[in-house]
Amino acid sequence: MNPKILIIGACGQIGSELTFKLRSIYGDENVIASDISYSNLDIVNSGFFEIVDAQDYASIKGCVEKYNIDTIYLMAAILSATGEKFPMKAWDLNMNSLFHVLNLAKAKFIKQIFWPSSIAVFGPSTPTESTPQYTTMEPTTVYGITKQVGERWCEYYNQKYGVDVRSLRYPGIISWKTQPGGGTTDYAVDIYHKAVIDKKYDCFLTENTKLPMMFMDDAIKATIDIMSADNDVVKIRSSYNLAAISFTPKEVAASIKQHIPEFEISYTPDYRQAIADSWPKSINDEEAREGWNWKYTFSLEDITKKMLFQLEKKYNTTVK
Ligand code: SER
Repeated sequence: MNPKILIIGACGQIGSELTFKLRSIYGDENVIASDISYSNLDIVNSGFFEIVDAQDYASIKGCVEKYNIDTIYLMAAILSATGEKFPMKAWDLNMNSLFHVLNLAKAKFIKQIFWPSSIAVFGPSTPTESTPQYTTMEPTTVYGITKQVGERWCEYYNQKYGVDVRSLRYPGIISWKTQPGGGTTDYAVDIYHKAVIDKKYDCFLTENTKLPMMFMDDAIKATIDIMSADNDVVKIRSSYNLAAISFTPKEVAASIKQHIPEFEISYTPDYRQAIADSWPKSINDEEAREGWNWKYTFSLEDITKKMLFQLEKKYNTTVK
């Protein structure tokens, strides 16, 4: 039987693509998109859409009851850079929404939860290359703190109350349909937009800042794979390390130059540099690979080709 899905935060970068993909798999009538406002008309006009406040238990529960929802993907969050500007807002949104969904599952209103964690759970004392699943974790951003605490609560609800919650530590996600917002890895999306529009980009990180990254299609595949894996295969109930590629701003600029030779990059690091410096450069995801056969597909070159092709269509310019 198909799951009956509610996506909270469906207007965002990952939520929007997840909505379309889940509808193509399970049918439009089984995937309800929701968000706090009508901020993404492609999503709002594409099928069932509800206004849901992720911080309001009654608002989520009302939607769950209206549509007989059994599965929630909680994609609403304040990311790392915005979280540093509004620490209490980030704490409130990221934690309250998670507790509401966990408590709905504990009370048996829903059966399954997907909740994203992040490479931001790691901190400056974490080994930076091939960061293992289990290691020192001392996050220094509010966002990272909420994700780390959230992971502990997910595991707790699984062990104490049998809640089927599944989670991935996403790296920076690169996509062309919907822009990310408020993250430290956002430069890796913005650079492609600026390359197509202006042929130049001023990066807020230094040229050699290496971070783990992944193309959206891979992130969506990993999300759907872990959610459809057999229950006993999903051994880790905090959150799985998940990896694809790692690159620096200089490397992504070089990859763009292969297609747009006149592209120029400059560097004006800001407060986001310290956030990036506190995160791993690469991730060891052997638990995901061995546990439920995870493997990424898109290389940096694949991503650059796809991004430039799609954005060129969007902005209607020609990339040679
Ligand atoms: N992409 C996120 C950020 O930069 C990390 O999970 O905040």
